[in-house]
Amino acid sequence: MCGIVCYVGKNKAVPILMEGLKRLEYRGYDSAGLAVQDERHIDFFRAVGKIAELEKKTSGIEIKGTSGIAHTRWATHGEPTEENAHPQSDMNGNVFVIHNGIIENHQSIRKRLDKQGIVFKSETDTEVLAHLISLNYDGDLNEAVRKTMSQVEGTFGIAVIHRDIPDKIVVARRGSPLIIGVGEEGNFAASDVSAMVRYTNKVVHLNDNELATLTRDGFSISTAQAKSVTRTAETVEWAPEDAELNGFPHFMLKEIFEQPETIRNAMRGRLEKGEGVPKLGGIMPVWERLKECRHMVIVACGTSYYAGYVGRYIFEKLTEIDVEVELASEFRYQKLNFPSNTFIIAISQSGETADTLSAIREAHRKGAHLLGIVNVVGSSISRETEAGIYNHAGPEIGVASTKNFISQLTILTLLALLLGRHQNLSLTEGVDAIRALETLPGQVKAILSKANHIQAIAEKYYRCSNWLFLGRKFGYPIAMEGALKLKEVSYIHAEGYAAGEMKHGPIALINPGMPTVAIAPLDSIYDKMMNNIQEIKSRKGPVIAIATEGDNSLKEIVDDIIEIPPTLDFLNPIITVVPCQLLAYYCAGFLKRDIDKPRNLAKSVTVE
Ligand code: G6P
Repeated sequence: MCGIVCYVGKNKAVPILMEGLKRLEYRGYDSAGLAVQDERHIDFFRAVGKIAELEKKTSGIEIKGTSGIAHTRWATHGEPTEENAHPQSDMNGNVFVIHNGIIENHQSIRKRLDKQGIVFKSETDTEVLAHLISLNYDGDLNEAVRKTMSQVEGTFGIAVIHRDIPDKIVVARRGSPLIIGVGEEGNFAASDVSAMVRYTNKVVHLNDNELATLTRDGFSISTAQAKSVTRTAETVEWAPEDAELNGFPHFMLKEIFEQPETIRNAMRGRLEKGEGVPKLGGIMPVWERLKECRHMVIVACGTSYYAGYVGRYIFEKLTEIDVEVELASEFRYQKLNFPSNTFIIAISQSGETADTLSAIREAHRKGAHLLGIVNVVGSSISRETEAGIYNHAGPEIGVASTKNFISQLTILTLLALLLGRHQNLSLTEGVDAIRALETLPGQVKAILSKANHIQAIAEKYYRCSNWLFLGRKFGYPIAMEGALKLKEVSYIHAEGYAAGEMKHGPIALINPGMPTVAIAPLDSIYDKMMNNIQEIKSRKGPVIAIATEGDNSLKEIVDDIIEIPPTLDFLNPIITVVPCQLLAYYCAGFLKRDIDKPRNLAKSVTVE
C-alpha cells in the first residue's frame, strides 16, 4: 500500500526521506517520488519501480532543502507511471501533495475543474487535491487544506507543501493512518512508525479529520473545524534494528526464526502459573461485561482471519462461548443481529486494514462491544476498539505474515484460557495449558533447527505447479494458511482444504505431479487424517506429512515427513504452521521470487 514520509528540520531532507521510503518498501508499491523545498524553490523527482530508481534520479544533484515530502505509490487510479506517481502538483507548481487513500468524488471534481480550465497531468484521484488546495489558498495553507477536506469524499492521509511557505508541512487524515514523529533535529510525519524509527521513538497519532502543521521546531494539531487540539507524544518500543535484516537474507526468514521470541513476548508478564489463569491488563476496562459474554464474532482478513479460525476452535475447546469467525470484507454485507453482550474481536497485525476497520464500525453501530488483537500500538483498530491485547511482536516487515500469526494464536489461547478459567475449565487444565504454552518457544526452536531438511523437501517439489494442503479441526485453518503462504511468496497455486472434503472434489486432482501437505499430528482426529493420506497414496499422489515425532506408522506411508514435538491439541497450530512457512519460503527462494515484497501484494491494505 502507499506510504508517506515527511521531514522538516536542520538536516538535508533527501537522505532522511530516502531512508524513510526504504523502510516503507515492505508495504508494497510500484512507484515513488519526493519533493524537497529550499526557500521558495521546490525540487521534485518521481520514478516507476523500486526506490533505487528514484535514488538514481537524485544522484549527483545537490539538493540542499531541509524540508520535504516523499511517497511510495500502489496504483489504484491510473497505471504505475511517472506522471501518476506522487507528489502531484497544481498547474503552477506551487502546491505539492502526497496522498494515501482514495478520493471517491474525484471524477465529479475533475469535471468541474476541467470546465474552469484546469489542465490535468495525471489520471490520479490525488491530483484533484493539489488543484483544490491551490484554488483554496489565500495565504493560509491550513485553511486551504481544511476547505479542501470539506470538498472531498473518501479516505486520505495527505502531506502538503507550498512554494510560498518554506519549512512548513501540513498533514491531514481521514481514514488513512498518519503519525507525527518528534525528533531532536526536526519533526516527521509518516503513515507508519517504521519510516521514522531510526530518528525518533516519540510519536503522536493524528485522529480522523485532524490536521497538523509541522515546522523545524514543533507541531500543532487542529480539527477540520479549526479547533486546536493538545496531544502529547507517546514513546514506541520498536528499536531501529528490529527493522534490519541482521544477517538473514530476507525479512520473512528472519521473522520465522524470531518466532520462539515472539511467543515469549506475547506471554511475557501475562502468565499466572499457580492459578492457571493468564493476566491480560488490556481487557480489564471491559472485564465485567466480557466475563458474562456467551457470543463472540472474530473479524479479520488474510492471515489474521486464519488465526481467528484457529481461535474459534480454541474457544470451543476452552470456554462456553459460541464463536463465529468472519471475513471482515464480507461481514459488513450481512444482516447483523447480535444477541446482547456480543463481543467482536478484530484481529489485525497492522491495525489499519480498511475492511476490518469498516467491519468493527458497523458492529459498533449495531451495539456490539469491540475488542482488538493488534500488533501496531496506537493504530486505528487499537484506538477504535474499547479494549484489547497487543501482540508485542515488533515490526513485521515481510509482506507475508509469519511471526504475527504465531503471536495472534498465542494471544487467542491466553484469552480463551482466561475466560475458560472463569467458566468450567479446572485448575489442573489451566495449569497444564500454561505449562504447555511455556514449552512452545523451545519446541518451535527445535523445528527451526530442521530448516535444512525442510529446504531439501522444498527443493524436491518446488517445480510442481499445484499443491494441496489438508487438515482437520485445528489443522484445517493451518492447511489454509499453509496454502496462502505458498501462494503469496512463491506464486505456486495451492489450495487449503478440510481433509474431510477431499472426496467431494479435490481428490479428482490427485496425481504424481501434485504434492499434498498433510497436517497430521497425533490428536483426536489423527485416524481420519490417516485415511485421507491413504486415499492420496493409493492414487499415487506424493504426501509430505507434518507429523508428531516418533509416528512410525505414518513414516512408512508418506513420501516425506517433517517431525514436530508433541503438545496439547489446541496448541498444535502454533507448531504445525512453522514447517508450512518454511516450505513456502524455500520454494519461493528456489523460484527466485521477490520474497519480502511479492508482486501485487501489500503489507497493509488500507483501501477496501
Ligand atoms: C494483507 C497482508 C497479509 C495480512 C492481511 C491482513 O493482505 O499482505 O499478510 O494477513 O493484509 O492484515 P492485518 O494487518 O489486518 O493483519
